[in-house]
Amino acid sequence: MEIRDVTTADLDAVLDNRVRAFGPVDEDEVRSWRHRADLVLPEGREIAGWDGDHLVATTRIWKFRQWWQGRAVPTGGVAGVTVAPEDRGRGAGRKIVTAALQRSIERGDVLAALHPATTAFYRGLGFEHAGGMHKITMPAEVLRGLSAERVEVHRATPDDAELVAETIARVHRDARDSGPMDRGGAYWRVVLADEKPFAYLAEDGVLIYRWSKDGSALEVERLVAGSERTARGLWAIVGSGASTAETVRAHLAPYDPVLWLVGEREHDMIDRTQWMLRVLDAPKAVELRGYRPGVSAEIPVRIEDDLVTANTGDWTLTVKDGEGRLEPASEDPAAVRVGPRGLAALYAGVPLSTLRRSGLLHGGDIRSEALDSVFGAQPFALDYY
Ligand SMILES: CC(C)(COP(=O)(O)OP(=O)(O)OC[C@H]1O[C@@H](n2cnc3c(N)ncnc32)[C@H](O)[C@@H]1OP(=O)(O)O)[C@@H](O)C(=O)NCCC(=O)NCCS
Repeated sequence: MEIRDVTTADLDAVLDNRVRAFGPVDEDEVRSWRHRADLVLPEGREIAGWDGDHLVATTRIWKFRQWWQGRAVPTGGVAGVTVAPEDRGRGAGRKIVTAALQRSIERGDVLAALHPATTAFYRGLGFEHAGGMHKITMPAEVLRGLSAERVEVHRATPDDAELVAETIARVHRDARDSGPMDRGGAYWRVVLADEKPFAYLAEDGVLIYRWSKDGSALEVERLVAGSERTARGLWAIVGSGASTAETVRAHLAPYDPVLWLVGEREHDMIDRTQWMLRVLDAPKAVELRGYRPGVSAEIPVRIEDDLVTANTGDWTLTVKDGEGRLEPASEDPAAVRVGPRGLAALYAGVPLSTLRRSGLLHGGDIRSEALDSVFGAQPFALDYY
């Protein structure tokens, strides 16, 4: 299998593989998919494996930044992994994702993330479950009851795309969020131009929503707000649809403020899908993320990573004054030992006791107990890609 960059001329073949892998797509989705390809193709972020003129495998690597404790870390969003049905089970999938991770590293990504259709396949490549994407369903009536002052909003157009991206980023930074992606203004321009959702921009908040295809529900794709006033105001806009929409479905953080604003909430209806993480450059990933104020630690760590060998080695993890460092060290018998999966889960704030009892982390001494405070987070996702 020869791996090459995907060009516009290859998109029909890529779409054919995609339909064979994920099922039919309607005309609007195809149009939007082609426009989204324009965001990755020029950067060499979509690759395909060919056997002569037969397309075997594809992968796209979105250029994202993922928030970790309020700091944005360059992240490759792995998507559209397909192998032609007749070529599956012969190593092509592993080969194309390995090449994609290499490409991602070359483009400066220090993490990779994805929404898996199969856990086992991605675990074999060093990914581990890191967080959830929560879709919460609530009766629209519950939102109508919110008391809200009117907030100043304007309808966002494609020309507002940069401002939409910046406003979302500011809210995640100030909230010290972990997990959501910064997809940049170019992405929002495509969404606002192609899909024409109802989009509103407030000074410190963004609301993007639309009707469900069957017209029974309002689907909130994004509602972030930097203050109580804006949260109430934007949710009240959604809730104003209660006379015609029975339910509201929203992608939310599990601790999104709206869940503490609504008057009734006895039984949350949450659909949670998993996303996985891989660390591509351990020292940079530690350096670029945020840490809680007041946390300090110095912990010896041994990483074994057969795929991204630059991660392999003995390191000292130091965290102080909100900054982290991972620096080469000499071998220490008291070091915490992780492979790429343990490293990813640790980075995502999976508790130490879980990591130990699931065999993802070994060794360490009393100093390693601080890892829970160092990486503690409740990562979530707001985008499916
Ligand atoms: C998932 C997919 C990409 C795997 O490609 P593939 O070429 O068949 O996989 P490989 O032969 O490279 O397999 C690599 C490893 O993953 C394992 N694996 C592959 N598919 C798997 C599956 N569906 N469930 C569990 N394990 C799987 C293989 O057993 C192999 O394990 P091993 O290294 O221990 O032998 C391919 O089946 C496909 O295109 N499926 C439909 C689309 C899809 O699900 N894409 C993933 C979207 S997130």
